[in-house]
Amino acid sequence: MAKAVGEALLRAGNPGRSGHALSIRSARDLFIARERLAELFGCAESSRFVFTENATAALNQAIKGVLRPGDHVVTTSVEHNSVMRPLRRMEEAGVRVTAVPAGKEGVTEARDVIAAFGKATRLVAMVHASNVSGALQPVDAVVAEARRRGILTLIDAAQTAGSLPIDLSSLPVDLLAASGHKGLLGPQGTGFLFVREGVQIVPLIEGGTGSRSESDRQPEFFPDALESGTRNSVGVAGLAVSLAWILRKGVGAIRRGEVALVDLLLRGLSRTPGVTVYGPADPLLCGSVVSFRVEGMDPAEVGVRLEKRSGVLVRAGLHCSPNGHRALGTFPAGTVRVSPGPFTTRAEIATFLSALRKIRAPSG
Ligand SMILES: Cc1ncc(COP(=O)(O)O)c(C=O)c1O
Repeated sequence: MAKAVGEALLRAGNPGRSGHALSIRSARDLFIARERLAELFGCAESSRFVFTENATAALNQAIKGVLRPGDHVVTTSVEHNSVMRPLRRMEEAGVRVTAVPAGKEGVTEARDVIAAFGKATRLVAMVHASNVSGALQPVDAVVAEARRRGILTLIDAAQTAGSLPIDLSSLPVDLLAASGHKGLLGPQGTGFLFVREGVQIVPLIEGGTGSRSESDRQPEFFPDALESGTRNSVGVAGLAVSLAWILRKGVGAIRRGEVALVDLLLRGLSRTPGVTVYGPADPLLCGSVVSFRVEGMDPAEVGVRLEKRSGVLVRAGLHCSPNGHRALGTFPAGTVRVSPGPFTTRAEIATFLSALRKIRAPSG
């Protein structure tokens, strides 16, 4: 992937802006990555995948592109700030927001989300797997019922894209947002928004697309409708390579590997004195994320000691999801979060667990 980024940087032409070889090559990189996204997510039409700089940009576009004053939106109490902050902004513009509370393992019940639907509900926006507890949310049931009632659905798949099978041919979600740099293994500065055909969405940004240049109006066809300005073709060239790797390996196989590692982590943590794990105890009920605390220690200090003593890199604190922590009762100090990926080994999990068992010792 890094090699592909380096090569793309050396020959970066502006995609779709010119007929010369370098521009055509960059446009091809975008096209290939788009086709691979469509294949990975089971969608026949790759043009419905819009490249963004990250999941946050995709979520903002989705939320601000479909909600209007007077609309009601249903969300959950375990969302990332990249959903909650745009929703709070929309609240100031006259949108009513209902955040459905999650249970103590960080799971929201489908029946509670559905019970919050009302006549003015235009959108339900929810995370696929919490980035705090890893808890998988009941997206299938919620999306099915929302569709039945004509309510738009937005799924934040930042934590699951590339790690968990998502099939847009059987999951009738309207909008799906994800980062390129997490489970999709691409470079930072990449992400996407999927917009199902027929969904009316207003672009947040308008400008040059390299298409219909004779008009001063934004094109309505995809992906140009939501892709104004020069794309990150260098990053997307890297993403195309990581997507090819994922397609070869298969998301099912990646998921099985990650479930086995999460299981190893959960079992190891349950045998570690003074450690409390937050979130589902069953690895099949979570994404590839495990959150915990060590009794009597600030999570930040645990993180510092793990890195200094054993080179284990974790994220400690609130993980940009204060509400997710409130739901778990871990606000304001947060937790320590470990997240194995497809390249994590069992030996690395063992190193981490052994480091954690010595964490309370003042040094060494
Ligand atoms: C659940 C969730 N949503 C959204 C985001 C935002 O992703 P990005 O940094 O790509 O904007 C994250 C990042 O951690 C996340 O975990």
